[in-house]
Amino acid sequence: MNPMSFAFGIGIGTQNSKGEWLETFYQKPLYMPEATIREIASNTLGYQGGNQAIEADAAQLTQFAEALRSAGQDDQARLAEKAAGSKRPAVVTLLDTDDTASSTPEVYLKLHLISHRLVKPHGLKLDGIFGLLPNVAWTSEGAIDLNELADRQMDARTEDRLLEVKSVDKFPQMTDYVVPRGVRIADTARVRLGAYVGEGTTVMHEGFINFNAGTEGTSMIEGRISAGVMVGKGSDLGGGCSTMGTLSGGGNIIIAVGENCLIGANAGIGIPLGDRTTVEAGLYITAGTKVAVLDDKNEVVQTVKARDLAGKPDLLFRRNSQNGAVECKTNKTAIELNEALHANN
Ligand SMILES: CC(C)(COP(=O)(O)OP(=O)(O)OC[C@H]1O[C@@H](n2cnc3c(N)ncnc32)[C@H](O)[C@@H]1OP(=O)(O)O)[C@@H](O)C(=O)NCCC(=O)NCCS
Repeated sequence: MNPMSFAFGIGIGTQNSKGEWLETFYQKPLYMPEATIREIASNTLGYQGGNQAIEADAAQLTQFAEALRSAGQDDQARLAEKAAGSKRPAVVTLLDTDDTASSTPEVYLKLHLISHRLVKPHGLKLDGIFGLLPNVAWTSEGAIDLNELADRQMDARTEDRLLEVKSVDKFPQMTDYVVPRGVRIADTARVRLGAYVGEGTTVMHEGFINFNAGTEGTSMIEGRISAGVMVGKGSDLGGGCSTMGTLSGGGNIIIAVGENCLIGANAGIGIPLGDRTTVEAGLYITAGTKVAVLDDKNEVVQTVKARDLAGKPDLLFRRNSQNGAVECKTNKTAIELNEALHANN
């Protein structure tokens, strides 16, 4: 057997009345865990290699915890002890490889790896996850199967409680699972589990970060980061701006934003941006947008499609307010990050 594993986590989750998983919380997921953990799982939980989510009972978890403790794995031993005493179902998930997931706890472990910043967006195989993520009512009393929601609402009322449904979605909000170090998130509902929120990032109320997407480091996010989009260090997304998931107008080029860029308020990008690029407020650049490239004297040198400028650094895109043409110039104004704006800690 291959002694190295790909990922590991001791989780506590929620199941519906049929015993199907709705979600799983991993306090301390591990990426590339030490081989001893795998061995201990084989000896105490009957783990047989491969990718498995093992529903362990209290006795098994206690044995698992003791073996982890003897092997000096104190952090994980503590979690196994807590799981042994849990009122909710516990699961021990071991992934030998990054193969396509086959259970809900596996998908949750992968999403945790990204939000814990253990793996960057695009670093994991996430195909097929939608089929394994049930659509769930995320409520003040935790995850509830939609088929059971009405009964639970009635029960709550009869017991003089109000059951608040915060969202109905396949993904929960990230902060109910992990708050990574050094971030501010004004409206926690706007960041989904599976987002990668870099240290030094502030997400304001209008900002949004989807799963498998995020920021490398310091950023002020007041616009939307679509699934798959990664924003480089020092780049800011202005109020209400938009990033497309993939190259607009077809194609599978992933949209990314380089370092020290500014996408202005209500602007949008359908092409990847190179470093130090600015997009004027209100200007939406799609891949096929015809762009007049200007020289230092504002003379048109050539006209190209925006996709030809994808990933090129030091550009300023604007819409000429007199003739409506989309123009591109060299971005001479270095973007100076506002220290006060970016001070998170
Ligand atoms: C595009 C942008 C970066 C240009 O700002 P700038 O580099 O400071 O440029 P200026 O406004 O000083 O303009 C320089 C020159 O270009 C001209 N100009 C600027 N925008 C123009 C436009 N869209 N069409 C025609 N001319 C324009 C100015 O009139 C000025 O002309 P001048 O040399 O004759 O005086 C800025 O307008 C912008 O949109 N910033 C985004 C801000 C934002 O949204 N932040 C997020 C907040 S949440």
